Amino acid sequence: MDPREYALMYAVEDRHWWYRGMAAITCAFLDRWYENREPIRILDAGCGTGAAMTTYLARYGTVWGMDIAAEALRFCRQRGAARLARASVASLPYAEDTFDLATSFDVLYEQAVPSDLESLRELRRVLARGGRLLLRLPAYAWMRRSHDAVVHTRRRYTRPEVENLLRESGFRIEHVSYANAALLPAAMLKKIGERLFPPARAQSDLALRAGIFNGLLARILAGEAARVTRSGLPFGLSIFAAGIKP
Ligand SMILES: C[S@@+](CC[C@H](N)C(=O)[O-])C[C@H]1O[C@@H](n2cnc3c(N)ncnc32)[C@H](O)[C@@H]1O
Repeated sequence: MDPREYALMYAVEDRHWWYRGMAAITCAFLDRWYENREPIRILDAGCGTGAAMTTYLARYGTVWGMDIAAEALRFCRQRGAARLARASVASLPYAEDTFDLATSFDVLYEQAVPSDLESLRELRRVLARGGRLLLRLPAYAWMRRSHDAVVHTRRRYTRPEVENLLRESGFRIEHVSYANAALLPAAMLKKIGERLFPPARAQSDLALRAGIFNGLLARILAGEAARVTRSGLPFGLSIFAAGIKP
């Protein structure tokens, strides 16, 4: 990821509509699985600047965070996060069968991940039997745009591709769904705009401020939570996938 992106992420991830909406969808999954249960051991693989691990993931148990970037971990510490490790998701510094839940939100698609399949096998290794993986990944190769240049995207996925990866890495597929369907048309328009008028410098989507529409967009995305977590959405700009280590 472009090193400047960490400061931007840290600055916006508590209030930007995209993060708020994605947090609502993620919590809809986690509430169903873990609400009112014994605290669990959670690994957030590719924790970035730490919003997920220090806010909503912490509600379900004890959270460990790891990331390849020292800059990301520095921001995690500013948030008061402990239990941090600098490592690659392709080679995790934890023993087998350590965690009940591993989350990895928008990480495995990055160029700095040498192999998504091997990384999934590694996540499977550190999960306990019956443990769960919750992934979020960007969808559709044809939606590659200037944002992907900034975050160093290696690959965007379709639902069948994610399902194959989960199976090949030894997970039992629990649930896979697209998400962020309502705002896909807006992203397509932005992509067409970039084609017609290429920006002087690639810009991450996070740099775009929604202003007075921030709350509305957050509610639109959060409003997808019930569909994403139950019947599933047939299209969208992101993919959520849950798998169980048999
Ligand atoms: C788009 S950010 C997502 C961060 C966070 N999960 C979130 O949802 O905000 C991708 C993160 O993956 C990390 N990353 C990239 N390659 C990695 C690797 N091989 N191992 C661990 N983390 C990696 C980056 O440093 C960055 O923090």
